[in-house]
Amino acid sequence: MSHFYAVALLVFTAGWCPCAADVGDFTSCLQFFYKSWPPKGLAGTQICQRYYNQYRFATLYSRPRRSPWFSAYMYGVPTGKRPTASWKFEPQLAYPGADGNMIPFPPGPLDQNVVDSQAVEPDYINSTYGRGHLNPSLHHNTREDRYSTFTLTNVVPQKKGSNSGPWEVLEWNVNKTLGDYCLGEAYVVTGIIPYQKDDRWLRNRVAVPEYLWSAYCCPKYNNSLPEELKDAFPTYAAIGRNDRTSTEEIVPINQTAKKQFRGYDVRQMPLATLEMYLKDRFSTVVSVFYEQCSGSD
Ligand SMILES: *[C@@H]1O[C@H](CO)[C@@H](O)[C@H](O)[C@H]1NC(C)=O
Ligand SMILES: *[C@@H]1O[C@H](CO)[C@@H](O)[C@H](O)[C@H]1NC(C)=O
Ligand SMILES: *[C@@H]1O[C@H](CO)[C@@H](O)[C@H](O)[C@H]1NC(C)=O
Ligand SMILES: *[C@@H]1O[C@H](CO)[C@@H](O)[C@H](O)[C@H]1NC(C)=O
Repeated sequence: MSHFYAVALLVFTAGWCPCAADVGDFTSCLQFFYKSWPPKGLAGTQICQRYYNQYRFATLYSRPRRSPWFSAYMYGVPTGKRPTASWKFEPQLAYPGADGNMIPFPPGPLDQNVVDSQAVEPDYINSTYGRGHLNPSLHHNTREDRYSTFTLTNVVPQKKGSNSGPWEVLEWNVNKTLGDYCLGEAYVVTGIIPYQKDDRWLRNRVAVPEYLWSAYCCPKYNNSLPEELKDAFPTYAAIGRNDRTSTEEIVPINQTAKKQFRGYDVRQMPLATLEMYLKDRFSTVVSVFYEQCSGSD
């Protein structure tokens, strides 16, 4: 047993922690939401994602699905290459009194409470689904912020054709758009839409989403926008397919796209259109940003 894991176990069993509220409410991490206003309409376990004793972003997690509903973060212009970080888990999901910091998976057998409470690395091994970040490491400036995105509570089973195709292109485009034209803070929320019926699962444990969605809010931006970005501020959204066999009502398929990416299209759309689809699919009004990011106080 590694020294690190032994310490982690001690912390679990002793139940010592000054920060037990990290699971259960967003009050310690409201700064990651526009106007400190978390999205309305979705329910789950609220996680203030903590790494090296700092809050990095926020996640609404579904314990029964062992995967997130959404992650919310502030965009930062990236520097350097995509890091290869170790994958981490959330001790507080397994032990209510545990330290609030995410922990790298230890080598060797896993603690059964961890396995029961969340997705673990073996869930994703030998699968046709990869680990799709909701909050991507690309949208962050510092090393620690980038590393902190490698926690399985920020990840959903995502098809490679989406993750290395149109969804990655969306992440690049959002990076360029916000990096070049957003002048103040940019708040991003990225989430999932489940299958309407007959959920699909990884190893009967981790629920697979039918779609991913994303929206940003940048109230202060450069007004001299190029023609193709005229509709991209202050807010914009997108929905991406995670199943090439899904029907085409929400996102049509481009039949001329490269074969490995065909059927994983991303459709960009106004925030109001995204919220219309979310309302339809969740059967309740879902509001992503305070007053639709209208910029009014
Ligand atoms: C993955 O597949 C290989 C080859 O079939 C097998 O040896 C290994 O145990 C599998 N790993 C997991 C985590 O299921
Ligand atoms: C992200 O956006 C910034 C600002 O436009 C740019 O300098 C950088 O090259 C972009 N990174 C990637 C990986 O596209
Ligand atoms: C706004 O964009 C224009 C055109 O790209 C650029 O010349 C100008 O420097 C930008 N202004 C600010 C404040 O970034
Ligand atoms: C469809 O995909 C092709 C090849 O990637 C691209 O050139 C074309 O612009 C796409 N059409 C639409 C409507 O997005």
